Amino acid sequence: MASRRYLVTAALPYSNGRLHVGHIAGAYLPADTYVRYLRATGAEVRFICGSDDNGVAALRSARLEQRPVEELTAAYNRCQQQDFEGLGIKFDIYGGTHQPRYAKTHEKFSQDFFLKIFQKGLFSKRRINQLYDVEAAQFLPDRFVRGTCPFCGSGNAYGDQCEECGRAIDQTTLIDPVSILTESRPVLRETVHWYLRLDQLQARLTTWLDGKKDPAACGAVWRPVVLNQSLGRIVAEGLPERAMTRDLTWGVPVPLDDPDAQGKSLYVWFDAPIGYVSFTAAWCAESGAGEEAYAHWWKDPECKVVHFIGEDNIVFHAITWPAMLLATHDSTDLQGQPGEYQLPHNVVANSFMNIKFPGKEEEKISKSRGTAVWIGDYLKSFDPDPLRYYLTATAPEGARTTFDLDDFVTRNNGELLNALGNFFNRTLTFAQKYFESKVPAAGTRGTDDKVQLGRCKTAMERAGAELEACHFKAALHVVMSLARAGNVYFDQTKPFHTRKTDLEACGRAINVCLQTCRTLTTLIAPFLPATGQRCAAMLGLAPGWESWPAAIAELPAGQGLSEPVILVKKLDLKEGLGA
Ligand code: MF3
Ligand code: ZN
Repeated sequence: MASRRYLVTAALPYSNGRLHVGHIAGAYLPADTYVRYLRATGAEVRFICGSDDNGVAALRSARLEQRPVEELTAAYNRCQQQDFEGLGIKFDIYGGTHQPRYAKTHEKFSQDFFLKIFQKGLFSKRRINQLYDVEAAQFLPDRFVRGTCPFCGSGNAYGDQCEECGRAIDQTTLIDPVSILTESRPVLRETVHWYLRLDQLQARLTTWLDGKKDPAACGAVWRPVVLNQSLGRIVAEGLPERAMTRDLTWGVPVPLDDPDAQGKSLYVWFDAPIGYVSFTAAWCAESGAGEEAYAHWWKDPECKVVHFIGEDNIVFHAITWPAMLLATHDSTDLQGQPGEYQLPHNVVANSFMNIKFPGKEEEKISKSRGTAVWIGDYLKSFDPDPLRYYLTATAPEGARTTFDLDDFVTRNNGELLNALGNFFNRTLTFAQKYFESKVPAAGTRGTDDKVQLGRCKTAMERAGAELEACHFKAALHVVMSLARAGNVYFDQTKPFHTRKTDLEACGRAINVCLQTCRTLTTLIAPFLPATGQRCAAMLGLAPGWESWPAAIAELPAGQGLSEPVILVKKLDLKEGLGA
């Protein structure tokens, strides 16, 4: 196990807004939990994220907020970093595709990537018509133009995609297009772009994706939604070539010595995933190994690359990005030879969450309507772990779920506090009061004691298996069930009673309860790191307590315990968020 190596990424958030609970539930929390678990098993892991700064999204927001795009993206990059830190989501590096500290490396990696694919002959240069705003004197890529969807007739369509039916749109087919810059009607004008020959890669991509249907064969549990969406897309539409350049100057310049490339940038969805690589390289440089050490993570079949994303990113991460990686290969090997970019080991996608405020109907999270719980606001009133608990317990792993503020409080007080908090509290308080804050002797264990210790071992194994499979909700359920079983064992062995009648039996029971606490400490830590720390401190555990196998290493009799602290606080919405 110790030789396992992973490069884990979480989708790069656009640096044009704040983060809300939906973002966290979608990608960042499961990724952080996974990384913490992997590290507990002894795996070597790097956890990479950063902001997606380029392209139209940031430019649009900069216009709206009337500030320079560099300033806007820097500000949101900082704000997002604070949110992640406040939630205990701990990346090895938080870069940014246009942040001053990373932009140069990122540009170099993105341009090298483009050139490599160019040399392989997998771009075709095409002269096409695009929408042009005469008043603003510029082309209108992607979301710079809106109009009516040619597929479903919704008025809520943009130059890249329809918000209503979700289909990708060729901007020249938009009905009644309007420029968002000037509200004028754009005209068609000729321009040149470079298209990735996805059609040439379709057969290999399909075989590769098909291979992910069998976990035993590919060694990873791919979620049905990821396979269905990506393979479904190929079956329904095939893989037409896609433009990977734009008429924009905010981005990575197209690195071609060609007058037609003047004033153009790489498409933001081309450069953004390369951010995973360029930030890895930046991390390697900053930690002294040198930039080239990125290859140890990206071009070595021994290292597994796992991407965590929200469901709107599936096609990009399961088709376009693997296609880009394949397009750089010299071999026609499916996964890539050593020294070539390795295709992702897994792409883990969650759905989104709806939101429900007290006394209101369930609705979609929306920035414009103000129906969101912002992480910055949450952290003003609450600790990170209640949110981490709730977002994992209700994780949208298969389908949309709801962030219900009343339910958030109910589950904290009814599940986390009742099961985990109370079990630690009653066990440690008892040991403090009646066993001088020491682990009592194990004594001669009976069947019930052995059964309870067996539950600890089973919980460790089952939670581990669920985490390996990225079933975070199920894994948390296993852990919480162990806490509940601990409470039942406590009730049944009645230490309050045996304290007066049979002190040996009393100590035996408290010993088993403390062993259960020991197991729970390691098992809860990937989900609720701050809580895990507090548990470990109370039990007097030595460094290294996070190690998964050590979860069932027994506390020796006589080990000193610390003053019990409150593990889980009772919550009341009046303290904040009561919107
Ligand atoms: N910024 C995109 C979004 O928020 C995600 C980009 S992920 C990357 O939907 F791979 F492209 F970086
Ligand atoms: Zn539509």
